[in-house]
Amino acid sequence: MTIARTSATAAGSGGLHPDVLTFSSSLSLDRALWREDLIGSLAHLSMLQKVGLMPAADARALHAGLCALWAEGAAGKLDFPEDEEDVHMAVEADLARRVGEPAGRLHTARSRNDQVALDLHLHVREQCAAVLELLGSFIDELASRAEAERDVLFPAYTHRQRAIPISAAYWLCAYGAMFARDADTFTFALNQVDQLPLGVGAIAGTSLPIDRDHVRARLGFSRVSLNGLDTVGNRDFALDYTYAVTRLLIHASRLSADIIDFATAEFGFLKLDGAIACGSSMMPQKKNPDVFELIRGKSARALGNHVSMLTTVKGLPGGYLRDLQEDRAPLLDTGPLARSVLEMLRLSVPRVTFDRERAKQALVEDYTQATDLAEALVKKGLPFRTAYQAVGALVMKAKGQNLPLAKVTPEAAREVNPAFDAEVLQCLDPLTSVARKVSAGSTGPAAVAAQIAALREAAKGAKERAAKVPRLETLFKTLKETP
Ligand code: ARG
Repeated sequence: MTIARTSATAAGSGGLHPDVLTFSSSLSLDRALWREDLIGSLAHLSMLQKVGLMPAADARALHAGLCALWAEGAAGKLDFPEDEEDVHMAVEADLARRVGEPAGRLHTARSRNDQVALDLHLHVREQCAAVLELLGSFIDELASRAEAERDVLFPAYTHRQRAIPISAAYWLCAYGAMFARDADTFTFALNQVDQLPLGVGAIAGTSLPIDRDHVRARLGFSRVSLNGLDTVGNRDFALDYTYAVTRLLIHASRLSADIIDFATAEFGFLKLDGAIACGSSMMPQKKNPDVFELIRGKSARALGNHVSMLTTVKGLPGGYLRDLQEDRAPLLDTGPLARSVLEMLRLSVPRVTFDRERAKQALVEDYTQATDLAEALVKKGLPFRTAYQAVGALVMKAKGQNLPLAKVTPEAAREVNPAFDAEVLQCLDPLTSVARKVSAGSTGPAAVAAQIAALREAAKGAKERAAKVPRLETLFKTLKETP
């Protein structure tokens, strides 16, 4: 057992109480960071040798030991002793078993405070890249789907009441716009995490002639952190990441909420393919949207993780505090959670199809063209308020006769107001209503085409940014081949 203790630490005791070790160990969680930890050590080793702090023979032995550990990790055969404090000590203990005393040279000019910060930076960077890649593909798929669903129409809702006819393409682009903003947020998080924390030691740097820029270049960061006291207590990059994931999952949950509603018999606009619908153990007829309910439910976990991270940091004084180790559970949960939701969206959204007849019926049997009628009167020169009141009166009349707006005869309309001529009444057809929208950001065909193009750009940008991130596998390969 390699405990971070000396005779000074242990003075007056019979050794660390085993329950204290159990309570304080993070190994069960941070063993998941073995890749990040090994890569960090390989880069640190490369630097120690370069500046003359590591004899060549010891460097070779440690390099071989770290690479052997990676091979075991890749094969799922990592065999860390259970009685270590964390992954950093477990790796050191393992190296000591393999190469003996020279293992003790690896921690030269390094503290676990900057080491864990490095592992977390590498982890967050890797996860952001993986999420951004998936997000880029999903935004692209939403754009293609929008392209294909331009002539499916249904009502848009405000206050969950039928409002104005829109195309399904417009609805899809709305979610595309949310996810495109998320791609920007992940790009921001990637820029925040893009600085090397290693090399600040426990808090104040080192008297040894280290070369932080060498480590920075080997690990593909674009800058080194500015101040060690800040660096060892900094988890801002992790907060940006858990926030980005939380907002992404909230958007996924809002999309799910729409799909769940639209797939009910009451709305009836959407149908779920049998491959993504779950059944009931008692009610034989059920076809349930469990996948979308779970996506909505999982956003709660992302939010919980984010709040937990914020609360861990809140109120801490400057520098490293062991409280920070409590970032591990929420942080490590966040990436797999985000990726699982995106993968499930990519699998299930294509298996949701529109019932165009039911969707159109919701428009025909209602009053959603009222705003268009009012605008058509405005085009004829009426003040909007006058037009608005005239259409209100027409709706009242139709309702009195138990008729939808589309069934009102031109004669009946002209009785309400002579301005309701044939041209004005054309927009009673939902297709005309949608086609007449011309403003940027509207449901009109030209505006939707522009939205689809913008989403394709956003998808491309997301994928390009993700591709720029040096990935752990690639870093390891380089560090292995060029020590
Ligand atoms: N396991 C610790 C953590 O995850 C590593 C840093 C420990 N540093 C210390 N001074 N005890 O935060």
